Amino acid sequence: MKKKKLKLRKGAQKKLIILGAIILVIVLILGFYFTRINELHSLGYSKEAAKNIIFKFKYSYVRDIGENKTLNAAFESNNYEEKNLDSYVKINYQNQKHLISNINKLLKKGYSVDEVSLIIDKGDDESVTLFAKRDKVKYIEEFLSVDYAKLANYDRYVAYKEKENDDAETTVLYVNMDFDKEDYVDPLVIDEFDDYVLVNKHRQLSSLYVPDDLVTIDADYVKADGDIEIERNVAQAFYKMAEAASEDGMELMVSSGYRSYKDQEEVTNTYLELYGQNYVDNYVAKPGFSEHQTAMSLDIASKSVDTFVNSDEYSWMMDNAYKYGFILRYPKSKEDITGYKCEAWHYRYVGKKIAKYIKEHNITYDEYYVMFLDD
Ligand code: DAL
Ligand code: ZN
Repeated sequence: MKKKKLKLRKGAQKKLIILGAIILVIVLILGFYFTRINELHSLGYSKEAAKNIIFKFKYSYVRDIGENKTLNAAFESNNYEEKNLDSYVKINYQNQKHLISNINKLLKKGYSVDEVSLIIDKGDDESVTLFAKRDKVKYIEEFLSVDYAKLANYDRYVAYKEKENDDAETTVLYVNMDFDKEDYVDPLVIDEFDDYVLVNKHRQLSSLYVPDDLVTIDADYVKADGDIEIERNVAQAFYKMAEAASEDGMELMVSSGYRSYKDQEEVTNTYLELYGQNYVDNYVAKPGFSEHQTAMSLDIASKSVDTFVNSDEYSWMMDNAYKYGFILRYPKSKEDITGYKCEAWHYRYVGKKIAKYIKEHNITYDEYYVMFLDD
């Protein structure tokens, strides 16, 4: 009796040992697993990506690479392809929904990792997804390595280059400025408004657009019939500029500021009657296409001299306007770019930083906008 009990105990003991060993192994495996998950997590990988990295036996590979957002996205994605692993590492990450499936497709078409990086950098999810469906094209590096190139404009770059034979940078700049389109044809209708809004013969404001912070310019500075309204910050900058000018013996005035869509219609009709269509094409924007509707532009006048270009005030403006955030918007040397004949009187407020850059680099606001503000 005593012996049997002992035997039973021994059997139970053995089972317990085995169970204990199993539990120990499980604890060790889990400990190991969670340690690795945490390590990967601290390297910048999501829990989901870290789990897949471990189950795909890529822990050491990823640990040696360290933080890499594209690799993280690849291991998070159902489209992960092992054969592209080394390429994922080299491709610059973009926050795009179909990033990994598009990378796979582009690599399959034969694009290099550098080309894939450029394609996804210069497009958004939609344009990259469309592009990834196309047969492989040439000149990717040539056009898309220009900072402000847009993938969506790729075909227009190729067509423009074939026609004009300009270098890649000029081609990208001019196409982004819509120079491959006729004036006023197929314009972009602006739907986001801020102080940097660009309006020209390719970019239109709605007839209903009215800026929301208009103030009336002090009558002492007005050289026109009736009140002139302008955006508040522009008015303040103008007053500072006019005070500085007056210390130098100059008398700056304003002859036009904000013009509604309807005002611009009237201006167009008046000048059409006075000087004809050719004058209007060169000096007057069609309604909806005038910077005056933004309330960010002023026509400057001299108190004593009627033709502004002949006044000392004009010379003063040429030297000093940028210090107060204003640029001559339609200069003589840039008529081909602005689409308007030189207007010595028309100044656009862009703020001091941009005005200084534009003056120092002798470019127009159309170019500045495409290079630095357009997205
Ligand atoms: N004179 C400028 C171009 C305008 O009409 O807006
Ligand atoms: Zn003007």
